[in-house]
Amino acid sequence: MSSAFLLALLLAAMSCFLPEVAHAGITRHYTFNLEMKNVTRLCHTKSMVTVNGKFPGPRVVAREGDQVLIKVVNHVRNNISIHWHGIRQLQSGWADGPSYITQCPIQTNRSYVYNFTITGQRGTFFWHAHISWLRATVYGPLIILPKRGVPYPFAKPHKEVPILFGEWFNADTEAIISQALQTGGGPNVSEAYTINGKPGPLYNCSSDTFKLKVKPGKTYLLRLINAALNDELFFRIANHSFTVVEADAVYVKPFKTDILVIGPGQTTNILLKAKLNPHKGTYLMAARPYFTGQGTFDNTTVAGFLEYVESSRNNTIPKNLTLSLPMLPAMNATNVVANFSQMFRHLNSQQYPAQVPLTVQKRFFFTIGLGSSPCPKNQTCQGPNGTKFQASLNNVSFTLPTTAILQSYFFRKSNGVFTTDFPATPLMPFNYTGTPPNNTFVSNGTKAVVLPYNTSVELVMQGTSIFGAESHPLHLHGHNFFVVGQGFGNFNQSKDPAKFNLVDPVERNTVGVPSGGWVAIRFLADNPGAWFMHCHFEVHLSWGLKMMWIVLDGKLPNQKLPPPPSDLPMC
Ligand code: C2O
Repeated sequence: MSSAFLLALLLAAMSCFLPEVAHAGITRHYTFNLEMKNVTRLCHTKSMVTVNGKFPGPRVVAREGDQVLIKVVNHVRNNISIHWHGIRQLQSGWADGPSYITQCPIQTNRSYVYNFTITGQRGTFFWHAHISWLRATVYGPLIILPKRGVPYPFAKPHKEVPILFGEWFNADTEAIISQALQTGGGPNVSEAYTINGKPGPLYNCSSDTFKLKVKPGKTYLLRLINAALNDELFFRIANHSFTVVEADAVYVKPFKTDILVIGPGQTTNILLKAKLNPHKGTYLMAARPYFTGQGTFDNTTVAGFLEYVESSRNNTIPKNLTLSLPMLPAMNATNVVANFSQMFRHLNSQQYPAQVPLTVQKRFFFTIGLGSSPCPKNQTCQGPNGTKFQASLNNVSFTLPTTAILQSYFFRKSNGVFTTDFPATPLMPFNYTGTPPNNTFVSNGTKAVVLPYNTSVELVMQGTSIFGAESHPLHLHGHNFFVVGQGFGNFNQSKDPAKFNLVDPVERNTVGVPSGGWVAIRFLADNPGAWFMHCHFEVHLSWGLKMMWIVLDGKLPNQKLPPPPSDLPMC
């Protein structure tokens, strides 16, 4: 071989090697100090758990392909773990975070380094505490940018702004949920909703209002995150519409709307084009809940300002005067929610194809909803008919173990920790959305479904109307799923599957099971580990509306869950 030929070969090899290096991710380090902090809202000051004293917590930013190392140091009395909501944690299940599922919580004065690499994902995520109700104050945005040089599949926005919806409670949320679990009744509701921690002008004694400053004619990417505990929200900006481009960190076919519905655990990216000639200097944006259940809920409205600031070329912005609230739908407007959820389609482009499982290896049918358990002797209970509230999937209310499930599975010590007999279908079928059965008691257990590596799964989740039909934002850890169908009433196995969308269904990690209806999802179980699936209403989570999938190792080395890190917390 001539040396010229060798050189050419070398250059060719380098040219395909070099860009790879340039695109390889970097390592990003963060430190999260869990610490108490006095925070005042609505004239109430409380000492609450925060990350680095911030409320909401600090922003985590990385790029697709990066490795992220977050050292969490616990300086508070509560045991805590943190979940990176929506991150797939491919082969890093030990970093997923739900307490007693993938790890024991981090104890006081201990630390744990969450170590994961962002593979094949980019978009808006969030992180939150995953034990009891601590996520009420322990949450923040997690932004994954595309790889360097890879554009968004839409025009580059002038600016990007995370917008987190939350809930403010004057009282300590740990006390609220522990009291509710004692009495069996519904927990006290929040005093306010917040946007980036601020309740806005519609509440008594409220001095903090979120302001979004925009320049005329510019386009803004708003990264909306619903971190509220127990409420799906309607959101609107007065006199403005926007374009939805992403849901749960997956690109969707852009669509225009002037109303948004966002459930807890969901994220939505929207493009907001500021008006060229606004007729006002400031507009109101507002959010309030969607609720169809029984019992009380926080029916207040959070508002923020969309404020036009003068750019150099434009100094004709009118000063304002009267602000009007955007019209929000009725709080039980199920039709608005249904129509809105129909708008979502996977982008399904060449670069971002919808990889919907076209064949199904395992089918499941889970009922989802409320139930009850008997009141203990010598006690009076405040749940339905003097019982205690519970919630379940297939009538199994999940009991958290006292040790981490993933650990017990990995070291083959699952005896006495969990069982693998979670029912694939209801044991006692009934008219799910009709008259409830006489016996509404649930069974209790720590049950998992075991899936061989790479099983394609179809799961229909059927809402029940026991103690009132209600929608449930169902969240799956470790995987995204495709929402192939949904409808009202009882799912019909002989008719409904024919209408499934297997071409461009939306891909998400959290989906609202319609109130009095069903939803069908498909996913590929390609991530070995123990994966929690639960309602993202914190109260339903507390009542047991959760279960677990165990995905077994595959045969190849890169299909196996590696051993746990040495600093994995002990129980
Ligand atoms: Cu954001 Cu298991 O939850």
